[in-house]
Amino acid sequence: MERVLSGMQSSGRVHLGNLVGALQNWVRLQDAYECYYFIADWHALTSGYENPSVLRESVNDLLINFLAAGLDPDKCTIFIQSKVLEHAELHLLLSMITPLGWLERVPTYKEKQHELKERDLSTYGFLGYPLLQTADIIMYRAKHVPVGVDQVPHLEISREIARRFNHFYGEIFPEPEALLTQFPKVPGVDGRKMSKSYDNAIYLSDSPKEVEHKIRTMATDPARIRRHDTGDPELSPVFQLHKVFSNKEEQDEVAEGCRTAGIGCIDCKKVLIKNVFKVLEPIWRKREQLINNPDQLKEIVDKGTDKARKAAQETMVLVRKAMGLV
Ligand code: TRP
Repeated sequence: MERVLSGMQSSGRVHLGNLVGALQNWVRLQDAYECYYFIADWHALTSGYENPSVLRESVNDLLINFLAAGLDPDKCTIFIQSKVLEHAELHLLLSMITPLGWLERVPTYKEKQHELKERDLSTYGFLGYPLLQTADIIMYRAKHVPVGVDQVPHLEISREIARRFNHFYGEIFPEPEALLTQFPKVPGVDGRKMSKSYDNAIYLSDSPKEVEHKIRTMATDPARIRRHDTGDPELSPVFQLHKVFSNKEEQDEVAEGCRTAGIGCIDCKKVLIKNVFKVLEPIWRKREQLINNPDQLKEIVDKGTDKARKAAQETMVLVRKAMGLV
């Protein structure tokens, strides 16, 4: 079986965008590939280094959400990055052969610095973010890396570094490929991309009441002031969410109802609430069960981490030897 690897940064709560854009895809892949999925807690530190308490909680919550979303520890390997120290070693060794210009040119470097202006991201660790990611990926000699389009530049630099390593030291690493996710972007309740920094996200840890409230108070087409005003569904963020969570028939129905004023905005939102609940209800149930079983969580992640570490150690034997470290 070919290997798949992916990670998620533990820097806050998991929202529907993470679920649909990443986790559900990971769940599908676990039957067809040998999958490694991990919590990138070191990556969370690259931009959130001032907040250890957020990190501590996020790691636990992310683990719960991995499992609640359907990752099955009998089918895939789930682990925590910082518990496999080999990632740090490989990151260091790769840093020897990585030209600074390659890192400075990664578009996410300047973009994220700009986006998070309030934080000081002129650090060594932040510049090295894609290099640490490269170490994560090539450590497992993974062929496929399921990610959203925003991660494509990181995959590109991973390939370049793998190639450079192989050029100097012999063919050890296959070049990883991005496996692009079907729904890369889920809009938030304000129509922009769902993101915790926009304060427009629906979280897996939100209660049913909170989810309902967030959807009920969403803006719709501003032309629909009164019930009999007709609207354009394409101008409503509610409809954008229908495109992700409702079936084709329901989408056609609410779109038609909007254009003709056949239904009101609340009717339209009720359909969306029902469909979002359908996705979240099993997750809420599993979260509840897992939150009450910290021992079970620990056992799962310890086992996954041990397995990942073994695979990483095998790679590091080759890498050290190739680089003259014997
Ligand atoms: N950069 C990824 C993100 O923000 C997280 C990540 C870290 C990752 N290491 C990885 C993803 C390795 C895939 C492979 O989502």
